[in-house]
Amino acid sequence: MSLRTREPLSFERSVPGKVGMDLPKLDVPAARDTRPAHLKRSGFDAIPSLCEVDVVRHFTRLSKWNYGVDDGMYPLGSCTMKHNPRLNEKTAALPGFAESHPMTADAHVQGNLALFYTMQEWLKEITGLQAVTLHPSAGAAGELTGVMLIRQYHLAHGRKRRVILIPDSGHGTNPATSAMAGYEVVELPSREDGSISFEDVTDPATGKVRKGLLTLVKELGSEIAGAMITNPNTVGVFEYRIQEISEILHGIDALLYMDGANMNALMGVARPGDFGVDVMHLNLHKTFSTPHGGGGPGSGPVACSAALERFLPRPVVVKEGEKYRFDWNRPDSIGKVHAFYGNYAMVVRAMTFCLSHGGDGLKAATMRAIVNANYIRRQLEGTYHLQYTTPTLHEIVFDDHIQNGNDITTLDIAKRLLDYGFHPPTIYFPLVIHGALMIEPTESESKEELDAFVDTMKKIAQEAKDNPEILHQAPTTTPVRRLDETAAARKPVLRWVKA
Ligand SMILES: Cc1ncc(COP(=O)(O)O)c(C=O)c1O
Repeated sequence: MSLRTREPLSFERSVPGKVGMDLPKLDVPAARDTRPAHLKRSGFDAIPSLCEVDVVRHFTRLSKWNYGVDDGMYPLGSCTMKHNPRLNEKTAALPGFAESHPMTADAHVQGNLALFYTMQEWLKEITGLQAVTLHPSAGAAGELTGVMLIRQYHLAHGRKRRVILIPDSGHGTNPATSAMAGYEVVELPSREDGSISFEDVTDPATGKVRKGLLTLVKELGSEIAGAMITNPNTVGVFEYRIQEISEILHGIDALLYMDGANMNALMGVARPGDFGVDVMHLNLHKTFSTPHGGGGPGSGPVACSAALERFLPRPVVVKEGEKYRFDWNRPDSIGKVHAFYGNYAMVVRAMTFCLSHGGDGLKAATMRAIVNANYIRRQLEGTYHLQYTTPTLHEIVFDDHIQNGNDITTLDIAKRLLDYGFHPPTIYFPLVIHGALMIEPTESESKEELDAFVDTMKKIAQEAKDNPEILHQAPTTTPVRRLDETAAARKPVLRWVKA
């Protein structure tokens, strides 16, 4: 069946009087319409009039234009798009979890509180840290919570600090959340191997000197609140000097925040608390296989050291004897960061993932994610250029250097992958690699799927040499061809208005 290339909006399909259901005639007086006029929609802009068949077909057709983790490999680096096990969905939908009201008295939801408490304990074990909050609703929300804990910690010690150090290989949300928490961001340069540079770095092209960690610590000293370090970083490299960095920071009473969204490369193998991290977040919607994307609910729990525990958002679930309760009496808390207690169903899914894997299984998942990424690296090295040849963990970042010779860019390669039925990798990120193609296969993919992806990437590299025009034209088989992505980002049209 061929896909239609244009799907009219539901508003455009609307036919006055069409309805999806028949309601019995009113046998009571009609209620008075008390809605204030300025809140009412009217005319064509109101809810479209459609019947059930129209609605079901409209959304089904649109869904077929999409690509999801259930369609095939989704190697979007840094996003960890892995399989969402169906068992997770089953447990999250159990009525005792799905239908319990967040304002129910603690005594009536002991099972739900036990689940929260247990997950807090497991995340403590996984991170090697002493306390956990499950409230933040995403990785970036976890970062903001963590930086607020750092700020509160310094304020409680009578210190007003203004700077957070962030490496140029950090995730884009890191500077954003630090700035939101009121800090000035100072960038740490990377070395040639992709790790943080302790020494100053001179840009060979411009001759400009960028100050390394040691110089910045010497010059800014007591102005530094902490450092925020994505580890493994966005080029897939483990910051092997992380413990030293922690010691240097602690030497000036600053704290180390680790962006732990990439814990799927460490879980069961290394614990951040053991290498000097004071506070970190995890993305349940990455490492623990809960669904994410499209603005849906996520979960970014924060783990921290004992010194920061009293500042955690309230309430925290505590256990007294055999009973659980929400502890609201936390006068030093930074307050609330989410309505009620966070996205509860995500915690249920994450716990199901942990239970179905077991401790050894979680470690095996980590190892497999690393092996899968390194398999792709080995297979494609030479066909695609690799800026950092340092050993990498869960993801691998190639670039378009080799293909540039044939006037082919990363965007052309990504678009051609669509023609072959693959979701492209993350492109043009991280910024430290020009024309980046950031591939993260995750542990979900079988060798057969990895081989199919590798073959396709090789085929595209060959096409780039033999017939670059095919790549310039791509995608040719999708309902929508190449879009003006810059205009889409800079001038988004988010609301339909009748012409
Ligand atoms: C390393 C890293 N940090 C932070 C985030 C932000 O997480 P979220 O998108 O849930 O806000 C991501 C997202 O993928 C990430 O990869």
